[in-house]
Amino acid sequence: ILNMAGASERTFIMIKPDGVQRGVVGDIIRRFEQRGYKLVALKMLQPPKALLESHYEEHKGKKFYEPLLEYIGSGPVVATVWEGVNVITVGRKMLGATDPAKSEPGTIRGDFGIVTGRNIVHGSDSESAAKREIGLWFRPEEVSDWKHTAEKWIY
Ligand code: TYD
Ligand code: MG
Repeated sequence: ILNMAGASERTFIMIKPDGVQRGVVGDIIRRFEQRGYKLVALKMLQPPKALLESHYEEHKGKKFYEPLLEYIGSGPVVATVWEGVNVITVGRKMLGATDPAKSEPGTIRGDFGIVTGRNIVHGSDSESAAKREIGLWFRPEEVSDWKHTAEKWIY
């Protein structure tokens, strides 16, 4: 009844330093809100190297690994957690392809990005990655388990 389309899940979406520099933080958050997803955690931080090493451990040893850590560590990022039905898969679709040149217009990377090395945003690619990444970036008490109320708050 609450949820006819399937189980709700959570994903980790990070606006990278270039997304902050480009001034598209609000646009990215708006896209997820507008799609109907619920923002349950949000913070801006300068990510420490150890956190990025854990976050990107699957890429350790690849040729883009060190430049990637340098780029993501170069400025503040905006870390967020979103909740809703299929948010992991749909979130990845909203991001677009890893290479912005292959991303459809209408996706975040397809609208704002040009090259893979500056692709604006990160999103968890699986349920296990989402759990792992949310746990890396947020303490449990930083994630709000809020509910939509029936009360009319504003109007
Ligand atoms: P990856 O996990 O493959 O992509 P995604 O972010 O879509 O899950 O790679 C992580 C990040 O590493 C990617 O967003 C940008 C960077 N990267 C490069 O700089 N060069 C590359 O060739 C690849 C594959 C990734
Ligand atoms: Mg990835």
